[in-house]
Amino acid sequence: MSTEPVKYNGVPVPAGETISFLAGKPVTPDCPIIPFIEGDGIGTEIWGATRLVLDAAIARAYGSKRRIAWLEVFAGDKAKAQFGKALPDDTLAAIKAFGIAIKGPLNTPTGGGMRSLNVTLRQTFDLYQCVRPVRYFPGVPSVVKSPQDLDVVIFRENTEDVYAGIEFKIDSDGAKRVISLLDEMGIKVLADSGIGIKIMSRMGSRRLVRRAIQYAIDHNRKVVTLVHKGNIQKFTEGAFRDWGYELAREEFADLIITEADLWAKHNGVLPEGKILLNDRIADAMFFEVLTKPNKFSVIATMNLNGDYLSDACAAQVGGLGIAPGANIGDKSAIFEATHGTAPDIAGKNLANPCSVILSGVMMLEYLGWKEAAQIVMQTVEKTIGARTVTGDLARFMSDSKQLSTSEFAQAMVDNMPPLPAAAVTVDTTATAIAAPTTANEVVAAPAAANEVVAVPESTQEAEARPETAAPATTASKDGASASPIDTVTAPAGTETKVSPAG
Ligand SMILES: NC(=O)c1ccc[n+]([C@@H]2O[C@H](COP(=O)([O-])OP(=O)(O)OC[C@H]3O[C@@H](n4cnc5c(N)ncnc54)[C@H](O)[C@@H]3O)[C@@H](O)[C@H]2O)c1
Repeated sequence: MSTEPVKYNGVPVPAGETISFLAGKPVTPDCPIIPFIEGDGIGTEIWGATRLVLDAAIARAYGSKRRIAWLEVFAGDKAKAQFGKALPDDTLAAIKAFGIAIKGPLNTPTGGGMRSLNVTLRQTFDLYQCVRPVRYFPGVPSVVKSPQDLDVVIFRENTEDVYAGIEFKIDSDGAKRVISLLDEMGIKVLADSGIGIKIMSRMGSRRLVRRAIQYAIDHNRKVVTLVHKGNIQKFTEGAFRDWGYELAREEFADLIITEADLWAKHNGVLPEGKILLNDRIADAMFFEVLTKPNKFSVIATMNLNGDYLSDACAAQVGGLGIAPGANIGDKSAIFEATHGTAPDIAGKNLANPCSVILSGVMMLEYLGWKEAAQIVMQTVEKTIGARTVTGDLARFMSDSKQLSTSEFAQAMVDNMPPLPAAAVTVDTTATAIAAPTTANEVVAAPAAANEVVAVPESTQEAEARPETAAPATTASKDGASASPIDTVTAPAGTETKVSPAG
């Protein structure tokens, strides 16, 4: 065996273990190696704050028994500057090898240039669920009267729809050929058109809706709403709705009640233990989520609707600075801030780090480290509740104390419970480990169980992606959890036991 340390982008892998995946869930060792991407713009500042907070919470929850071995990987401007490429092969190889990553925001040019790095990451690792919980934190200024009425978890399909990247520029060979084909089919399109193609597969719709329903079951949520624009886009958005109901009938028949049945058979009252599955046309949904927010709980929708809806919902509870997100597949997951790089405040130590911190909470829950997740969540509530906040919130809170990004992170740590008596100082320095002979190859993953189904840039191969088996339908009543991350569930009888709490 080689004694050379494993390196990605020249950075030695720290001492730690590799997370493996079983039936769509991570099997978490006590010291998992987790790659992080700082991100562009405010990324460095908010990631630094997040790492401090997550490490402090893990130490408080588990003493020296558990820690994360962080591995920096590069993407975006930093990668371009150092390696001449915005998304180096080694970055993809590291995420593939270690399964889970967390990232700050990345710049994406509009109207040309390179493809979105975020979209590339989601499609490369087939992260088909974009999970965004939206809830209110008391004290956060909001534009609506009762922001606490909104508490939803949005499951946005993450790989298809108009995000599949099937686009042809005006006057390009591709645009001309598509226009000509349409002409042959009797469909007239102006010659000076750019063309984009929207796709939605049955498999892609069903696996997303399956996860959303399973999440509702696992978290004792009573309503799952399919959001679509099926009245206009019948064979994509309309089909998404139909496939969603079809899936529910096939796999969750004993638990699901449709809106029609609710009134026809149950007098409008949801029977105990059942979940209402309904659907809304997208425009009506935007109206209703604002006017009747407490009618909704879990939302499953397609890519573009989900993009719009999650930002609109985040605005209702106080903005993007506190909105976390996760991109989850069956064999990997990437947790990320939902906002952008905020170039206007980058480098000024002003940014609110809560979006990445709360994405870290989702990651901890996904790892099964619920105690640490709870410490971070409670500390966010406590710190914001004490009206000690960053400028984006402070300017709307008359009696608040404005903190810088780094001061907010320190206030979070100060607000945490004390370290357990037996805790020893955690050594977070990166210690190089000996390389397994093939582990540093771009396509080689250290653990066979962790293998990622790489999806080509086009989703034309969507049908090649494996559909997971039917999930268990027994509910675990964990309504208190504010994070959706343990939605990633295993098929009945095969649920992975993650490391127990320390
Ligand atoms: N997930 C991602 O990586 C992601 C998401 C959205 C946008 N982007 C990219 O980010 C760049 C800038 O986009 P944009 O300006 O449209 O959106 P943005 O989210 O970066 O900024 C919008 C506004 O919100 C503020 N803001 C954002 N995050 C904040 C935070 N954490 N704390 C305080 N204020 C915050 C900014 O100062 C700005 O006024 C673009 O290149 C875009 O493509 C990346």
